Amino acid sequence: MSAEDRPAATWIIESAAEVATLSPAGATDAGSLSVVSPGTVVLAGDRIAWVGAATVAQAAAGELPYRLTPATRRLDARGCTVIPGLIDCHTHLLFGGARHGDFESRCAGKSYEQIAREGGGIRHTVAHTRAAPDEELLATATRHLAGMLALGITTVEAKSGYGLAHEHEIRMLRLLRELDRRQPVDIVRTYLGAHEVPLDQPKESYLREMLERTLPLVAAEGLASFADVYCERGVYSVAEASTVLRKAKALGLQLTVHAEQLYRTGGARVAAELGARSASHLEQATAADLEALAEAGTIAVLLPACPLYLGDNRYPPAREALSRGVPVAIATDFNPGSAMTYNLPLCLTIACVQMRMTPAEALLAATAGAARALALGDRGAIRPGLIADLVVLDTPHWQQPLYHFGASYTRQVFKNGELVWSVSPRPRAIPGELPSSP
Ligand code: NIG
Ligand code: FE
Repeated sequence: MSAEDRPAATWIIESAAEVATLSPAGATDAGSLSVVSPGTVVLAGDRIAWVGAATVAQAAAGELPYRLTPATRRLDARGCTVIPGLIDCHTHLLFGGARHGDFESRCAGKSYEQIAREGGGIRHTVAHTRAAPDEELLATATRHLAGMLALGITTVEAKSGYGLAHEHEIRMLRLLRELDRRQPVDIVRTYLGAHEVPLDQPKESYLREMLERTLPLVAAEGLASFADVYCERGVYSVAEASTVLRKAKALGLQLTVHAEQLYRTGGARVAAELGARSASHLEQATAADLEALAEAGTIAVLLPACPLYLGDNRYPPAREALSRGVPVAIATDFNPGSAMTYNLPLCLTIACVQMRMTPAEALLAATAGAARALALGDRGAIRPGLIADLVVLDTPHWQQPLYHFGASYTRQVFKNGELVWSVSPRPRAIPGELPSSP
């Protein structure tokens, strides 16, 4: 290749202590977590152009398949780690109001279901979401997305489901589309009309509305890539879930299901039978359910913050899923009731210590595994040709943010090849001197 044919490097992230390149999108086994040490990543526009152990001298000597130009920017990443942008593949990001009351009640020992029966729960959030003006919902969600970006999250799935009526569900999806336009984090939209039974409409008529009005409009306007159903005792049955999901599939939407969270209802089987891309929760899934998911290639999206926050010790069966060959993703389930957190790195720590995942499996589950759950073949790893979504961590060890749980190690975040977030310089003590006071 002559020098002129080589792509111009827009960024060189240079001499990182470790670059965790992770697997080609698709594989989620821990063996795929490959670490280049020391490593350099080269970006060309919105794509990764090169990753490897090259030195800048080699680049300058024209030995590498890219070329430096006066516009090439360099980032000295010595002492740092580079990982792919994290992907949160299950959230309920857009909602009005807050459920402090639910939290107080749960701390006092009430269950999630009991709180919902007494006027809290999803329906409480539905009332506040319906009543909130567009700009208020957008402002709150934008603040959450900024918090996510600061944790290194560059792609987020977000569901409707706090509207529970045609026009309110459509409004939620349109607002999510608007949010996607307003800030750097990519948002994958999911229609979750069947999240709860509305208080102001009989279930039968709401189901008819979903099938005859909402789903066709969602598909026609491209308002969502996925359809989801909360398949749970007292909410939507296996038969109802299957009717909604079949219609969604016929309209060209991809499928995902909230399955086997509080009770084992058969939702995972429905997911497998209909060829759903993923099934979430699965705390109560049986061995046979996991076999069915493995057979169908349905990805298990495990949500460790949920049992933690509900004070329930039944964590999802990660080891059983992995040993049966079920591809695994980890997500936050960020929502105002059962998991009020968007801290995906923290969820990875919980997956390690409570579900016995290795740190490598956990990191893969929030990158390559999550990309697979969202059917995004262009991200989730660091290799040439993929979208340049990268996180530079202020640590020489990729395990550090999992090990030191709850702390943030994000130093820089690149989205589509652009530097979109950078920490302000940390004060460093000079040997022999006291750090100056702020
Ligand atoms: O995934 N349980 C259903 N949906 C959410 C909770 C939503 C809420 O409580 O607002 C979940 O856990
Ligand atoms: Fe959820």
